[in-house]
Amino acid sequence: MKKTARAHTNIALIKYWGKANQALKTPLMSSLSMTLDAFYTDTTFEHDSSLTEDTFILNGQKQTPEESKRVFNYIHLLQEKFGFNDHFTIKSTNHVPTSAGLASSASAFAALATSFAASYGLDLSRRELSKLARLGSGSATRSIYGGFVEWQKGIDDASSYAVPIDENPDLDLSLLALEVDTKQKKISSTKGMKLAQTSPFYQPWLARNKQEIAELKQAIKEKDFTKIGKLSELSANEMHACNLTANEPFTYFEPETIKAIKLVENLRQQGIECYYTIDAGPNVKILCTLRNRKEIISAVQKSLTNVKIVVASFGPGVTLL
Ligand code: PMV
Repeated sequence: MKKTARAHTNIALIKYWGKANQALKTPLMSSLSMTLDAFYTDTTFEHDSSLTEDTFILNGQKQTPEESKRVFNYIHLLQEKFGFNDHFTIKSTNHVPTSAGLASSASAFAALATSFAASYGLDLSRRELSKLARLGSGSATRSIYGGFVEWQKGIDDASSYAVPIDENPDLDLSLLALEVDTKQKKISSTKGMKLAQTSPFYQPWLARNKQEIAELKQAIKEKDFTKIGKLSELSANEMHACNLTANEPFTYFEPETIKAIKLVENLRQQGIECYYTIDAGPNVKILCTLRNRKEIISAVQKSLTNVKIVVASFGPGVTLL
């Protein structure tokens, strides 16, 4: 049977940056994200006993065996889990503006897990789908739900899944994705997560996780933009501080990243409230409210050369099309 699912990507406000179990992708910490409306993946999964091979088509291009490896391994793992072994075709389209600096793996594996389950007629809860998505990519765990989402770290495969905090937040919050990308090849998140754990600041950061999650949940409840922004910026800086102090030290920052950080600091000094968050790459995402959005966009365009800006807000959870 052929089924199509749409999943939106998400940005972690409290970061996930370390695996407890490499294969299960259970995390060392809980994380909290915002699902984004501007970026999504549509994936069609079809399995049929008459098919003679597995195929993966991404954005209209048939992928080579090497390019398909991660996706095929993932599907074979799910098939084994549920006792299926026929061939399949996957057609996936990423609606993520070219290099907006947002990883598509979150939306990709959430859409893939959901279309897989629907295609085989598995009647799974969103909690179960969240666990299946996790086996593809950690951040995908959260993309099953819309709005604000918490990935509760758990202690094993059964207890590590996402829960919705507020799927339709009545909150004025925009995210500006700034593409300040360079040609530099980035360190994979798996590698970065391992290295970061050698930082003397990693364990103290982990010890603060429970408190940081609780504080952000409280700020969301109170619709307190200032608190949400400050906690998000802090979590990103804690993650990047661990990278800078790892053995060997490394950073995802590029000169343009620092420029964007400085710009946010300057805007705040002028009374234009905004905050930044940064993932495993050089691109900066700015959190702001509608009131200041235009002004921030024009300040970014003035200060950074060749920057592309994509505006996003809250997106929905995964759906079958
Ligand atoms: O699960 P991955 O490999 O997409 O890693 C995600 C890592 C960060 O984006 C930096 C943080 C996060 O929680 O999404």
